[in-house]
Amino acid sequence: MTEENFIPEPYKNTLESGSCTYASPSNIALIKYWGKKENQIPENPSISFTLNNCKTITKLSFSKKQDTTHFSFDVFLANEKKNDFKPKIETFFKRILVYLPFLKDYHFNIETSNTFPHSSGIASSASGMSALALCLMHIEKALSGSMSESEFIQKASFLARLGSGSAARSIEGDLVVWGKHDAIKGSSNLYGVKYPNAIHANFKNYQDTILLVDKGEKQVSSTVGHNLMHGHPFAPERFKQATENLSQMMAILKSGDLDKFIALVESEALTLHAMMMTSMPYFILMKPNTLQIINKIWSYRKLSGSKICFTLDAGANVHVLYPENEANKVLKFIKNELAKYCQNENYICDTIGMGAKMV
Ligand code: DP6
Repeated sequence: MTEENFIPEPYKNTLESGSCTYASPSNIALIKYWGKKENQIPENPSISFTLNNCKTITKLSFSKKQDTTHFSFDVFLANEKKNDFKPKIETFFKRILVYLPFLKDYHFNIETSNTFPHSSGIASSASGMSALALCLMHIEKALSGSMSESEFIQKASFLARLGSGSAARSIEGDLVVWGKHDAIKGSSNLYGVKYPNAIHANFKNYQDTILLVDKGEKQVSSTVGHNLMHGHPFAPERFKQATENLSQMMAILKSGDLDKFIALVESEALTLHAMMMTSMPYFILMKPNTLQIINKIWSYRKLSGSKICFTLDAGANVHVLYPENEANKVLKFIKNELAKYCQNENYICDTIGMGAKMV
């Protein structure tokens, strides 16, 4: 598959107006994407758990317009007009116009809402861009007349990637790989694929409780963050390591070895932050409470023999990962010992989920 394969044949049908709604989940990477080339091509492959509860729900209404020289759209978040979202969507539309040539033919109303608080510090770009990509694919499917489910999903992920890299991993569940890895059949730099190999029962309904340590605006935007990897002294080694770590993860997913899983996932999280600390300019995205939580998790694990572990995204929040059979015990621990390190004692319980769907 190349990018050109995603340029459609002339459409068979016409469509005056309509609307559709998709709910698309957030995801949490186990092997991290950090560093990209031109056109949203990742420097290394990544794999993530698709989440169940943290979602963006987007309703896209469209009506044909006369003037086809420019994009025309309005964006609403929780019923409030959001003009500050427009530049990002305009950039997205420009990037994908060649793949969706109908974009200038319609006026779009994009009404979006998140199931998690907007100010929670949880990145909504993955769920937001994937939900929008799915809505746009819904229109393309109607214009094309026919399209298989697999073509639909693949192109939705391809488009979502052009909005935000990690969004490529938010179309399907429950484990998704994005980026070419020689040992993973079908993996591609252009779109995410459902992890095709065996997954041990230990990972079934894996739990993710997101501890909201810092709800503020992101200190470093992902664009700035990824750019920090250009010319970074450790970048080539990091990209190699991520590929090797994904090979290790494949063996772990098969064997169900949770001790190895813990070591690899925590090491990936800390490596991501180490890359930011050793960039120029440098950043520390963890907060004192992030470290308090990590230390508490480590001592709880040592004392109880629990298989709890943590991962981080590009911020101070902590994702606490644990097997389903420990859910009751770990939730008690979180409530009693970790909630106090969260802003307003806020945390969100989630599990691995099945992916996006039409609503
Ligand atoms: C740390 O997908 O937000 O969450 O492609 O610039 O939109 P853009 O970046 P984005 O980067 C996510 C980085 C990460 C790790 C990951 O999800 O793999």
